[in-house]
Amino acid sequence: MILKSRHLLGLEHIQPEEIQLMLDTAESFREVSEREIPKVPALRGKTIVNYFAEPSTRTRVSFELAEKRLSADTVSISTSGSSAVKGESLRDTALNLQAMHIDMIVVRHKASGAPHFLADHVDVPVVNAGDGCHEHPTQGLLDLLSIRDHFGRLDGLKVAIIGDIAHSRVARSLIWGLTRMGVEVSVCAPATLIPLGIRALPCNVLDRVDDAIRDVDVIYILRLQLERQQAGLIPSAREYRRLFGIDRERLRKAKEDVVIMHPGPINRGLELAPDVADGPHSIILDQVTNGVAVRMAVVYLLSGRDGGSELGS
Ligand code: NCD
Repeated sequence: MILKSRHLLGLEHIQPEEIQLMLDTAESFREVSEREIPKVPALRGKTIVNYFAEPSTRTRVSFELAEKRLSADTVSISTSGSSAVKGESLRDTALNLQAMHIDMIVVRHKASGAPHFLADHVDVPVVNAGDGCHEHPTQGLLDLLSIRDHFGRLDGLKVAIIGDIAHSRVARSLIWGLTRMGVEVSVCAPATLIPLGIRALPCNVLDRVDDAIRDVDVIYILRLQLERQQAGLIPSAREYRRLFGIDRERLRKAKEDVVIMHPGPINRGLELAPDVADGPHSIILDQVTNGVAVRMAVVYLLSGRDGGSELGS
């Protein structure tokens, strides 16, 4: 089994067998992180550049850890420390990096489509670590792995995604990835936070949280992306919390064994009550742990080091 694409730009066009391959590979790498010396030589001699043109903690650190645990050489740059602040274009930055003989670029960018643009201009694999409001494929994959771990399967499960769908690249990757694996997905948010193109996505749209959470296996809560919103999309934080926030009281309306997930960073007490975030239903920290394993799998499978993988297109 091989990955069909040379890059990982999104989950929209990915096949179920490819998702399966990435999750299975991640599972086999998880054990590496538990070793006393958490390192294998799989990517020795490969150089990976992590180009983060937007803030990030979890994603950046877990890509770096994943690459280091596979023994790749890594360089991490952020916009504030790069020539982008001097006006260099994304294309020039990429071509200059490539001229230094690197083997892969991981990119996070505020512009939707930036990783696709890069992929057209460099001849090394590009991994999308989050582009604008578009996709965040490795987050989607680590979420799929966390759900599969917990339930032992994906097919036939139901997931409700609650919150700021309009500005969420996580929601898009999740909707594509989950439905590809046979999961039924509903989204629920104030009308102002539902994207205009929602009908083109394979999900149900509900406007009452209590209806959305009633018989699902997973409640996936999104951060209210205050930095991406123009003023006026929600009347007030208090009202949002009352109508859409998940707290212990509201959780009583869900299945007894429902699982709570969130991609982080959490606005504690806004979209999610602290005691639910830290409570027995939450697998939020498992998501973080799986982030390293999934990113190990992705960079490994795209590196061409997995014994004859042919990485087309
Ligand atoms: C998400 C992101 O940056 O898209 N976080 C993450 O990668 N862990 C979601 C968010 O910022 O709300």
